Amino acid sequence: MRFLSETKVLACHELRREGARRWLRLEISGLASVSPGETVLFSEDRHSPRCRIATVETFADGRAALVAKFEADDLEPAAGNALTVWLNETAAVSVGAGSLIVTTPAFLYRVAPFEQRGATVLVTGADADLWQNLRQRVEAGLAWTSVFLALEPARLQAFIVEFPDANPYLFANMDMSCGVGACRSCHVTVSDNMDGEASCRVGPWFALKRVNLVRLKFASAPFI
Ligand code: FES
Repeated sequence: MRFLSETKVLACHELRREGARRWLRLEISGLASVSPGETVLFSEDRHSPRCRIATVETFADGRAALVAKFEADDLEPAAGNALTVWLNETAAVSVGAGSLIVTTPAFLYRVAPFEQRGATVLVTGADADLWQNLRQRVEAGLAWTSVFLALEPARLQAFIVEFPDANPYLFANMDMSCGVGACRSCHVTVSDNMDGEASCRVGPWFALKRVNLVRLKFASAPFI
């Protein structure tokens, strides 16, 4: 169990804007301990109880950079604002040296921080290029101890067809509300646990063979 951290916003920068959405980098102080790539939840006092998901981009000396998605007309956190941050993630599988992560350009901001832990990240667009690229890398002898896929359920199905003997992990991209395993908004349907698994507690990575991809297709958030 980890506890709420009362943090302060040091700076806020817009990284990207697309249609009605924009992605902001929040630099904050006062966070106890997090690792790059972890998912945290946060709320601002002025918006309570609304909370958002953010990815830890960097963390050092009590200062963290978080990347979060906002709607274009949302008020952005300002320097000096208070921010309550929490996470309860104790990932069941760790990503690090020897891990290959495959993702799309739009979702790169969620997984790129894992490179700081030694993972290799492969970013691609069209499926044909993706599978061909992976095959070429395998044939070239570039082997990984584990493969992690941060892709939509339809692409996961395609991966199974292309690489039936692989045993990858998937990124369950679920919307979250409580972040402590209580509200069930982020539960993933798995074959060996009737209650499902809370992504906010043991995710975001799950063995692909455990997960019901049909249900995930309707439950997961878009990979943006
Ligand atoms: S966000 Fe509530 S159970 Fe995960």
